[in-house]
Amino acid sequence: MPGYKIAVLPGDGIGPEVTREAERALVAAAQAFDFEIELEHWPIGGTALEKFDMPFPDATREACLAADAVFLGAIGDPKWDHETGNRRCEAALLALRKALGGYANLRPVIVPESLVGASPLRPDRVSGTDLLIVRELTSGIYFGEPRSSSEDAAANSMVYTRGEIERIARMAFSIAEKRRGHLTSVDKANVLEVSQLWRSVVTEIHESEFPNVKLEHLYIDNAAIQLILNPSQFDVILTGNLFGDILSDLAGTLPGSLGILPSASIGGLVNLYEPVHGSAPDIAGKGWANPGGALLSAVMLLQGLGEMEAGIRLQDGIVNALNEAVLTRDLGGTVSTTEFADSVLSHAFDFAPTVPIR
Ligand code: NAD
Ligand code: IPM
Ligand code: MN
Repeated sequence: MPGYKIAVLPGDGIGPEVTREAERALVAAAQAFDFEIELEHWPIGGTALEKFDMPFPDATREACLAADAVFLGAIGDPKWDHETGNRRCEAALLALRKALGGYANLRPVIVPESLVGASPLRPDRVSGTDLLIVRELTSGIYFGEPRSSSEDAAANSMVYTRGEIERIARMAFSIAEKRRGHLTSVDKANVLEVSQLWRSVVTEIHESEFPNVKLEHLYIDNAAIQLILNPSQFDVILTGNLFGDILSDLAGTLPGSLGILPSASIGGLVNLYEPVHGSAPDIAGKGWANPGGALLSAVMLLQGLGEMEAGIRLQDGIVNALNEAVLTRDLGGTVSTTEFADSVLSHAFDFAPTVPIR
């Protein structure tokens, strides 16, 4: 029987609330599809800072590197915002991403018919949305040198090397080839040198290796409005770290909530799965969080392990629960985090286990 070891990092705020539901889904999937899954919890973010005086303990890093996959809930809270440098929760997440090496952050955005009415946008605009943001995750302005900070001035550098652009472009084109064969590269080449290199390298990779994919370039400001005006024009959106961060939150308007967007970071040593949303301090502890993004991240995790059937069943369970209008508050419903997951799991696997006791 195949067996997988998953490092689970619940983190802060609603992180543990949604992670718990993803864990139940993985346990149910393992039971239904005859594989073993070992879920080990490790601290990260503010929770780790309080307990171990550091937001990314070495033990967490080592456990993640030794795992078959990593699942993260969310990190951060305003109460830790006074921290600086590598004591920041966000720095812990960036260090984790860098250590695991997954440079391609895949953020799919689908609007099932059941959510067309939940979107703040007009139904005729959002209906049929099925796009994938491929966000470069381990370079760009998040990591660029030089960076500096003083009382009078602060600076960050948006740096991309040719090699970094080539590998993320190849990843995005090869995914586009298997989808609808259309890639939109988003940059700010009308102003930034780094974007001019980005655009010319993406164009080279297109011409030399993927001429069958249709390539378009958009400036980030235009991409933002196009995403809202006509989202179904997009198949794969390829972009850098900062633009991808912003566009993916904006894309949360399409299905009506950021809470339902998942992600996978691939191409490195160990794949990392995490919902797109943050720790949502405004609703933490209330039991209202939408676990959809975490559950869909568990679908991506199952796919990453090669457990395709289990992934499809879990995804169908999510779609079925939404079709029956089992909706959390962010989508206009009334059900709790756990009630939504219960509905998903009973659709997918006919039973809903409690969280495994460790
Ligand atoms: P956020 O994503 O936490 O919340 C933005 C809004 O979306 C809030 O109104 C929140 O209630 C809502 N929301 C988010 N997830 C939801 C869910 N699952 N169900 C229902 N509603 C949901 O962004 P923020 O408030 O800007 O950031 C809060 C903290 O989270 C900050 O410390 C930030 O750095 C951190 N953060 C972490 C991650 C991560 O861990 N991957 C991602 C983004 C932000
Ligand atoms: C995300 C988050 C992170 C990012 C933060 C918390 C470091 O916003 O995953 O989208 O900017 O990448
Ligand atoms: Mn973000």
